Amino acid sequence: VLFRSMSAIGLGLDTTFDDTSVAILRGKREILSNLTLSQYKEHEEFGGVVPERASRKHLEVIHHIIAGALKEADLDFSGIDYIAVSNYPGLLGSLLVGLTVAKSLAYTLQCPLIGVNHVEAHPYANVLKHGEMQFPILHLVVAGGHTLLIHARGHFDYKIIGRSVDDAAGECVDKVAKMFGHSMPGGPVVDRAAMEFPGDEYDFPRPLLHKKTHNFSFSGLKTAMLRFKEKSQSTSSSSFDSPDRLQEDGPVLASFFQSVIDVLIHKTFNAAEAYGLNNISVSGGLAASRKLRLAFEAESARKGVKLFYPPPNLCTDNAAMVTCLAAHRYEAELFDDLTLDAFANLN
Ligand code: KG4
Ligand code: ZN
Repeated sequence: VLFRSMSAIGLGLDTTFDDTSVAILRGKREILSNLTLSQYKEHEEFGGVVPERASRKHLEVIHHIIAGALKEADLDFSGIDYIAVSNYPGLLGSLLVGLTVAKSLAYTLQCPLIGVNHVEAHPYANVLKHGEMQFPILHLVVAGGHTLLIHARGHFDYKIIGRSVDDAAGECVDKVAKMFGHSMPGGPVVDRAAMEFPGDEYDFPRPLLHKKTHNFSFSGLKTAMLRFKEKSQSTSSSSFDSPDRLQEDGPVLASFFQSVIDVLIHKTFNAAEAYGLNNISVSGGLAASRKLRLAFEAESARKGVKLFYPPPNLCTDNAAMVTCLAAHRYEAELFDDLTLDAFANLN
């Protein structure tokens, strides 16, 4: 039984927001397939994700992605030992597509169903890359919908010690990029600006930087960027997303991102110190930023802290991290049943 559980094969689904992702994992770390279809293009003409369209799209593509994942893993359904799915938090209509498919599969295959918290799963990108988690550890999760500091003592044993009281860092970055005429998602273009231009040309606010709280706030920075944009004389005539536009906005976006980075670094290392933690992990879509990664690497070296940082493709939403967390639950026999529900909120 022990041997079987150590090499168990899980099929995991993630339809939390606007990406449809399916992964197959052997044991806790061996990715046999990890396929993600992003809907950003689908939503571009609407300037953001339209929930109803997102769930329809998940429904259209999920079976094809499952078939593709099985093919890539060279397996059929009989080789699957358990089904994993993220059942919260996210867009309810999107979550329900993944959950319903997961339940149908678990019922048909007569195998365990394991529901996981999508944001709890983000740090498991580091287990896939670096090996077993080293507890106790402080996780910074910087995603489109959440900015969280999590103090973890063991698997499934964690406490959220800081969170954004308004916009998530990724959300702020996406909105500011959009404000400056860049297409969604904004993270990659802001990161490019931050790699190409110095971040000290403008001095934008760093919300809650020197406050005692471990919480974040990013809406004030977003508003400051809007005011700056309104005040700035340059009425640009360059077209949407043209290289000229980055030449013009580059220094502004680089300085803006420096504010975000300073806040994330300062708050994370402060919390690590307050809780006496020497291990830090970073994960979530915004962690795909090269500039953010360099900043965390430099500060960790300076402070003598052990840093766990995943590769970009495991930072953004993916079912491999979801299945990795589920593999740990499988081993602990933490199963769900067909009454498992989906929830929009984290708690
Ligand atoms: O984790 P994620 O894929 O979805 C959520 O769970 O929300 O995070 C999405 C966020 C968006 O804000 C997006 O702009 C950002 O991740 N992002 C990036 C990059 N790729 C995606 N930010 C910086 N650099 C990237 N390469
Ligand atoms: Zn996510």
